[in-house]
Amino acid sequence: MKITDRLDIDAIEAGLKTKSIGKKILVYKSTLSTNDVAWEYSGNRTNNGLAVFAEHQEAGRGRLGNKWLSQNGQSVLCSILLLDRKCSAELLTITAAVAAAQATSTYSKQNARIKWPNDIMINGRKVAGILLESRNRNGKNDYVIGIGINCHQQPDFFKGADLQQPATSIDIEADTITDRNSLARELLTQIDRRLIIAEENSEQIINQWRQFSSQIGHFVTLRYNQRQFSGNCIGVDPAKGLILQLSSGGVRMFDAAHTTIVKQVVSKS
Ligand code: BTN
Repeated sequence: MKITDRLDIDAIEAGLKTKSIGKKILVYKSTLSTNDVAWEYSGNRTNNGLAVFAEHQEAGRGRLGNKWLSQNGQSVLCSILLLDRKCSAELLTITAAVAAAQATSTYSKQNARIKWPNDIMINGRKVAGILLESRNRNGKNDYVIGIGINCHQQPDFFKGADLQQPATSIDIEADTITDRNSLARELLTQIDRRLIIAEENSEQIINQWRQFSSQIGHFVTLRYNQRQFSGNCIGVDPAKGLILQLSSGGVRMFDAAHTTIVKQVVSKS
């Protein structure tokens, strides 16, 4: 079944009670990348908290230079502009992951988890991803948080796609038809709320991130700088990365920039 709902500014704004995020919302039919649009608006500093949505991206970007693919009208594709923030990129990434996981869980009533560093998973399959970009302008740290949540995709869409890991959508996992405007509103609400927490008490957001982690307490195999390591995941540190109790002995941290998860043994979600 082809689902033809539309993202709509009034519908997203209906009942939206955020302090700073989504005070201005833009919805594009098509753009190259919502992250690019958000950056274009960064010259006007009153655009702090701007939320950009699109039905379609011609050049959606993922992490590590990957493409982010989505058919027209099937996802929530969102970028939030954050200007002159005191938080580090790592803390903002964690904050966005917690917000996206919570919004996805609340909306879908499924148990969404965070797979380090910032993939949002339901039942072991990726349902959403986060791409944080940063720029320094005259000593001020500006960020765009890009979030893509799969909503209406059906299994056929993922078959044959060149995916790094199994993927899914909310419609598949929750056996529903996602109201993307409601999900978008929940996402903005969660980002607003979690940012306030992160800026007031970073330890609290780090703890929330740990609670959403699908890896802590599980056996993980990863590749770091061409070498493979295995061990029990005993923690995650926002700046230093995944902490493994190595099978070969010792404890070691693996940073996100140089690490790929090869395999992890986890419970279902
Ligand atoms: C990943 O898991 O690789 C991150 C994917 C991030 C995709 C979103 S969709 C909205 C925003 N615009 C982009 O071009 N990318 C992000």
